Amino acid sequence: MSRRSLLISSAAIVAVTATAPKGAAAQPAGSAMSPSSKVSFTVNGESRSLDVDNRTSLLDALREHLHLAGTKKGCDHGQCGACTVMVDGRRINSCLTLAVMHEGDQITTIEGLGEPGDLHPMQAAFVKHDGFQCGYCTPGQICSSIAVLEEIRANIPSHVTSDLTTEVQITPAEIRERMSGNICRCGAYSNILDAIVEVAGIKV
Ligand code: FES
Ligand code: FES
Repeated sequence: MSRRSLLISSAAIVAVTATAPKGAAAQPAGSAMSPSSKVSFTVNGESRSLDVDNRTSLLDALREHLHLAGTKKGCDHGQCGACTVMVDGRRINSCLTLAVMHEGDQITTIEGLGEPGDLHPMQAAFVKHDGFQCGYCTPGQICSSIAVLEEIRANIPSHVTSDLTTEVQITPAEIRERMSGNICRCGAYSNILDAIVEVAGIKV
């Protein structure tokens, strides 16, 4: 093969490769249709049923489908805690779980805790202690704080405690450790801790 014909055939291969859609070979026929499912759960005491794409996170189901925008999306991959809600009394990052996995569950979001004039004690303590600045992390911080105190009272070890028989003390250090998954970019940590300590009834 002459150098000229080699160059021409190489250029033709490059052109064909460049115009083929990315991943076209890997696309199975009919993959444009994504499966959806019906899911029913209770949100803040109200029964809700949704038809959702199976890939919808619980966070997006709450915010986009149920318009409960109090729960915030920060990182959307489990690193900031802004999306924390309570499911059957336990806190979870709602960005890391699919809505369809929560059939029959009891979900509590910040909207279900209190309202102006009738705040949950933790909400009132956050206000009293200035436990927020921009407020973006606050719904997650408050949901997490409430669940943290229940975890400690129920003697559920944090991820750093491996001995199930260890008695867990309610101390500011224990609270700080358990709240470490909730990031506050405004750095309101000491005020957040003051609020939780007050609700926990700890003398410091
Ligand atoms: Fe879920 Fe950040 S948005 S952890
Ligand atoms: Fe602004 Fe926490 S109050 S991120």
